[in-house]
Amino acid sequence: MFTPALIGGCALGVVWVGIAGFAIAEPRGGSLPVPTTLNDFFMPGSQPGDLVAPMQSSQTCMGCHSDFSPESEPFLWAGSMMAQSARDPLYHAALAIANQDASFSGDMCIRCHSPMGWIDGRSTPTDGSALVPQDLEGVACHHCHRMVDPFDPDGVAPPEDAMVLAMTADLPVNPHSGQYVLDFEDRRRGPFDTPFAPHDWLNSPFHQSSSMCATCHDVSNPVYERQPDGTYALGALDTPAASHDKYEQFPIERTYSEWLMSEFALGPIDLGGRFGGANPLVSSCQDCHMPDIDGPGCFFTDDRPDMPRHYFNGGNTWVLQAVRNLYPDMETFLDATIVSDSISRAIGMLQSASDLELSVVGSDLNVRIINFTGHKLPTGYPEGRRMWVNTRFFDAADTMIAERGAYDSLTAVLSTGDTKVYEAKLGIDAAVSAATGEPVGESFHFVLNNVRLKDNRIPPRGFTNAGFELVQSDPVAATYADGQYWDDTLYAIPAGAVRAEVSVWYQTISKEYIEFLRDENTTDTTGQIAYDQWALLGKSAPVEMDFGTIDIPCNGADLAPPAGVLDFSDVVAFLVGFGAMDPVSDLAPPFGSFDFSDVIAFLGLFGGGCP
Ligand code: HEC
Ligand code: HEC
Ligand code: HEC
Ligand code: HEC
Ligand code: HEC
Repeated sequence: MFTPALIGGCALGVVWVGIAGFAIAEPRGGSLPVPTTLNDFFMPGSQPGDLVAPMQSSQTCMGCHSDFSPESEPFLWAGSMMAQSARDPLYHAALAIANQDASFSGDMCIRCHSPMGWIDGRSTPTDGSALVPQDLEGVACHHCHRMVDPFDPDGVAPPEDAMVLAMTADLPVNPHSGQYVLDFEDRRRGPFDTPFAPHDWLNSPFHQSSSMCATCHDVSNPVYERQPDGTYALGALDTPAASHDKYEQFPIERTYSEWLMSEFALGPIDLGGRFGGANPLVSSCQDCHMPDIDGPGCFFTDDRPDMPRHYFNGGNTWVLQAVRNLYPDMETFLDATIVSDSISRAIGMLQSASDLELSVVGSDLNVRIINFTGHKLPTGYPEGRRMWVNTRFFDAADTMIAERGAYDSLTAVLSTGDTKVYEAKLGIDAAVSAATGEPVGESFHFVLNNVRLKDNRIPPRGFTNAGFELVQSDPVAATYADGQYWDDTLYAIPAGAVRAEVSVWYQTISKEYIEFLRDENTTDTTGQIAYDQWALLGKSAPVEMDFGTIDIPCNGADLAPPAGVLDFSDVVAFLVGFGAMDPVSDLAPPFGSFDFSDVIAFLGLFGGGCP
């Protein structure tokens, strides 16, 4: 059958690749998927087939290493998002879109979300259909504990590492995008010198360093090459990236680099035990995400004072429950307690992440949020993650008279125009639009995005603009001064407001993103499955990170513009309000009645009680 439309689309795609730049006039000429191949997603590090000893299921470890905590809760790891990263329904929905957008791009996703499946050569087909049950254990025990430090700048790695590195054909340039090097043999690396382990083990300082986490917590898109002018353009197809340096590729996540450029990378900071554990001094990812306690490494060994708990909690408070709804406990090692405990810990992380300070500046309310994490707040996965400020003003009768950043929990709609929303937004430029047919601008197409349109997330301690620019994480459409690890938002105080309540909210997945995952999916049901779980589980209910309230007593008299100035217009406004029985003029109890006490209150505020 002859389909002119399709042929036209293909032809244009080819023209674009040939003479990039000339086809820009045609806004929606190209087509999807971009014809990438596995070669475009080749990355250095261990390759499928490299391992001599096979990967083992986490089940084989949990018999001895189930209990890392005095709470005696088994399987802490199982309750982490990493243990469920290959089952995560959002991941499956996003994976389907990635494969629709760029052929074979799913290989890159599987590399991190199902690393045991990837290293064992089961990442093709790139929809994950060749993965076996063990691969669904996500970022599993054996994977993390066979990782070798590819860099070892201080020369502290066990000598066995050097041999592994010597036998690995291509070594990473810097840690990112799942470019792990794994021991061919089954030698389990960990933080301790242990006299007891009934299996091969090696003491590996790498496992106490943030660079271990960097392997997967800096994510770059290898098909885009950084140009001399700082933009990102599609490289030659069917060819590995021209440079495997992450900073030469398009940045998707930069959690590790944000940390690297923060004060936390310079040494421990005393945060007073904010993130739990025995040690108030925190520096590495592990210090906050794997807090130390007194406990045994294995059920038959003695307690250690610095036992790192495998919590790995971040901000995700609902996807674990979705996993439990979709898979039998027998496969996930989850149960009701593990899920609810992990979700409580994630809420705890969110509540420890920031502090809130409220003040009145002239006629405005200032809302300051201070970042206490080791990276941007929020950090990580950009699509749909956000944090926002909700501000409510109350009059003297304690009636709410104005709200900014209102969120409707029934519809999951956030009013974004009148408040600050902290988020990163990526998108597509004219060249990619021409090649793909997707419109220029903001987009949720993970593998197609090649421009950073917004990043106003709050930097960590030690932030510098120059440092963050080096790691492609400078603020976009926002400004932060060097050293600023907080952000201020000013709200004009409305007439009659004498008190304000402010909340800071975090949400894992926005309505816009989950609808995108459902509606753009033309391949399978994963988008609908993720959407249904989202709808069932409270639509990614926002978590309150901070709450504060502040009195604005003087404002009771400042009833008319110009705001911040008490003048005759305010007297008139008071009298008009009083006459009309408007709550604005109801300044003193008994509320609901307009009497002499309100007049006294007004005069008191107007005449000198206020600066
Ligand atoms: C370098 C490793 C790496 C690669 C490659 C990678 N991811 Fe991820 N992914 C992560 C990390 C780390 C997180 C968690 C970040 C966070 O929570 O902020 C994550 C989170 C996610 C989430 C959010 C899950 C949730 O429950 O909120 C989705 C969806 C996702 N990834 C999809 C993908 C897809 C699709 C691909 C391939 C196009 C991909 N990832 C490739 C490491 C990776
Ligand atoms: C038969 C019991 C048993 C099994 C099964 C077992 N381990 Fe161990 N392992 C131990 C003991 C005992 C230690 C020493 C604990 C200590 O000294 O605190 C240990 C120590 C370790 C260490 C720490 C090494 C160090 O230097 O810090 C790691 C990592 C480790 N095991 C990983 C694993 C992994 C991964 C699996 C599954 C693939 C596993 N273990 C299976 C008993 C076991
Ligand atoms: C000083 C403590 C601290 C340090 C150090 C730290 N984190 Fe975090 N991290 C937090 C807190 C608190 C949160 C919860 C707030 C949030 O989600 O942003 C968090 C959230 C996260 C999230 C989830 C982000 C999201 O919203 O999706 C990831 C992923 C993460 N951290 C990884 C890391 C990695 C990797 C490192 C090291 C490079 C690290 N963290 C260092 C405290 C810390
Ligand atoms: C994301 C990577 C990762 C995964 C997955 C992981 N670990 Fe660990 N594990 C670490 C790191 C990092 C440390 C050292 C942390 C520190 O010292 O601050 C550690 C420490 C340990 C130790 C030594 C300390 C102790 O608690 O005894 C053992 C044993 C261990 N892990 C076993 C396991 C087992 C068993 C699993 C699976 C149930 C597992 N790990 C999953 C990263 C991981
Ligand atoms: C092999 C790749 C890999 C390594 C190594 C790794 N991570 Fe992750 N991590 C992931 C992926 C993938 C996810 C996303 C899981 C999901 O949400 O589906 C994730 C999620 C997380 C989250 C949860 C984020 C949230 O939104 O709640 C935290 C916290 C985290 N990782 C911390 C760490 C720390 C700390 C280390 C180092 C000790 C580490 N990770 C090492 C791949 C990795």
